[in-house]
Amino acid sequence: MTDAASSPDQAGDDLAFFIDLEPQDSDMMAEVVEGLSATPKGLSPKYFYDQRGSELFDRITMVPEYYVGRTEIALLRQIGAELAADIGPDATVIEYGSGASVKIRTLLDALEKPHLYAGVDISRTFLLESCRALKADYPDLPIGAICADFTRPFEIPAELFGDHWRLAFFPGSTIGNFTPDQAVDVLKAIRSELRPDDSLLIGVDLKKDRDVLERAYDDSQGVTAAFNLNVLHVINRVLQADIPVENFSHRAVYNEDKGRVEMHLVATEAVSFTIGGHDFSLEKGETIHTENSHKYSEEEFNALAARAGFKPHRIWIDDNRLFSVRLMRAV
Ligand code: SAH
Ligand code: AVI
Repeated sequence: MTDAASSPDQAGDDLAFFIDLEPQDSDMMAEVVEGLSATPKGLSPKYFYDQRGSELFDRITMVPEYYVGRTEIALLRQIGAELAADIGPDATVIEYGSGASVKIRTLLDALEKPHLYAGVDISRTFLLESCRALKADYPDLPIGAICADFTRPFEIPAELFGDHWRLAFFPGSTIGNFTPDQAVDVLKAIRSELRPDDSLLIGVDLKKDRDVLERAYDDSQGVTAAFNLNVLHVINRVLQADIPVENFSHRAVYNEDKGRVEMHLVATEAVSFTIGGHDFSLEKGETIHTENSHKYSEEEFNALAARAGFKPHRIWIDDNRLFSVRLMRAV
């Protein structure tokens, strides 16, 4: 994502490598215009994550209603020794959607002598800052950053990773932000960077009570609302649009049939705006669908991962049955 603060030469002096695949900068206009021209209107959740969006997401992980972050970290702490035994020494760890690189610390602390860590994220400045902060705390570990859109195929130069077991780490239930068919494609792309018997450690949110879910996505401090509305600020800034953000409000609803929490932006009055010479208008009450967050049973996710070439190895679930961490093997 193009950030106000980013510049192309922010390469990773203290990092082992920085690969910038310049994700989406050229495609954003076409995708946004297409999404807002569709019925119903929709936007890809990847546009949440400019610098402010990444910071807002980080704050979401601290609100009491959003159980995801703290439950996953507690699980990772609890299973550290088992994981280390399963993964073995000298693993190359690649994290997809690395964000603030918080959870990886728990994993790195548990693993025996990891060989290298690479964070993959679309939010360039945030990725670099997070990888640098990680390097400061793990000075002996080679750390690299890859700015890429993991929904599109990209190749990681094999020589960077060496001939070690690879562990793909995909925490946060970010996989839930894709429809099941899209999720299979994302997992296939991850699978293509692994060899048979390499591992995928993935956080997957579980189906649960509607009230718990809807509160988690509409916290009382309004941080999730600000995160949702941020996508309109991103479009205004990057595409020089004039969307009246103050005329939209946040809505989160659990769609039980589809097993997903949906986030929408609702026009609180009739609005019109222009993006790149294209005119748009919404009636009062009309919505823009901005995010899905799918919740899976153990069996549902196993079936989905099998379509991408992964078989279940172990699963850990917290005592309150809120969240799962799964270790899968590449077939
Ligand atoms: N792993 C962290 C952050 C999760 S938020 C955690 O569990 O707390 C989702 C992260 O995925 C963000 O950092 C966002 O920038 C990144 N992301 C979202 N869509 C992406 C895409 N298509 N390609 C690459 N990164 C993406
Ligand atoms: C990143 N992703 C897994 C979060 C989720 O729970 O779907 C994004 C989020 N949206 C609202 N709150 C958090």
